[in-house]
Amino acid sequence: MQSTSHRQHSLLLGATQGIGFALARRLGRKHHHVTVTGRSQASIDQALLRLRSAHPEGSFDGFILDLKDHQAAHHILAATAGPIDHLVLCGSSEAAWGPFESLTADALERALGMKVVGYLNAVQAMLPHLAPQGTVTFIGGAASRAAMAGSVGIAATNGALEAVTRSLARELAPRRVNLIAPGLTSTEFWETMPEAEREAHFASFTARLPLRRAGLPEESADAIAFVIANGYVTGSVIDVDGGWHLG
Ligand SMILES: NC(=O)c1ccc[n+]([C@@H]2O[C@H](COP(=O)([O-])OP(=O)(O)OC[C@H]3O[C@@H](n4cnc5c(N)ncnc54)[C@H](OP(=O)(O)O)[C@@H]3O)[C@@H](O)[C@H]2O)c1
Repeated sequence: MQSTSHRQHSLLLGATQGIGFALARRLGRKHHHVTVTGRSQASIDQALLRLRSAHPEGSFDGFILDLKDHQAAHHILAATAGPIDHLVLCGSSEAAWGPFESLTADALERALGMKVVGYLNAVQAMLPHLAPQGTVTFIGGAASRAAMAGSVGIAATNGALEAVTRSLARELAPRRVNLIAPGLTSTEFWETMPEAEREAHFASFTARLPLRRAGLPEESADAIAFVIANGYVTGSVIDVDGGWHLG
């Protein structure tokens, strides 16, 4: 078995597909030992197969974790994850999209429970295992500031994460804490939407962006790799949104 002692260990929570998976591929290439999590063994096995065939020299493993189950997640992380250098929170939230008038307390609680409470709960569980010079990176979303009708629920979720990024960067220093705010990004997340609806959504949305296209998961992964590697970046929010935040 190949030694991993010289490798940095990156733990990517919610990385069997999408931006997290693109990051796993990238960090694997950069000789990190990469641990990915997902909610089922099947999705983890599939992700590990793809990662190992893309990078036979890479070092990858994975385990099951549901960030919504706060007690279990805390326990599993505290017991299983081992020492890490970089913790990245990439698990996708239950979307609380839609007009404010019809936004239910339940939908809002589910979105906040997954992406705010779930992410913070995971960071807290991992603190004893996080290297003194380690990093925490959240994936937020441009909807936090790019005001848009129908986005109150998602703005609340991603805005809360941006606020805690600054507080945590202060509190956890010299560990570094940052957030990447993607705009519309072509990940598997969107594959649950019927194709015609998805194409119409992407077309009308990207027509209003300065860069006139959706982002690639690799572009968000690049930004995460940057904040992980740059030792002087902390408490920062990096927009990877094709200019959406410009209004
Ligand atoms: N794609 C976009 O347009 C976009 C735009 C703005 C912001 N974002 C943000 O970027 C992040 C990543 O999005 P994405 O598009 O890459 O998502 P994605 O393609 O849906 O992938 C999400 C990952 O999260 C895992 N996951 C889902 N629910 C989970 C849970 N309860 N506990 C643990 N893991 C869970 C999934 O793994 P399993 O299915 O194996 O559990 C999967 O690996 C999210 O925070 C999202 O809000 C995305």
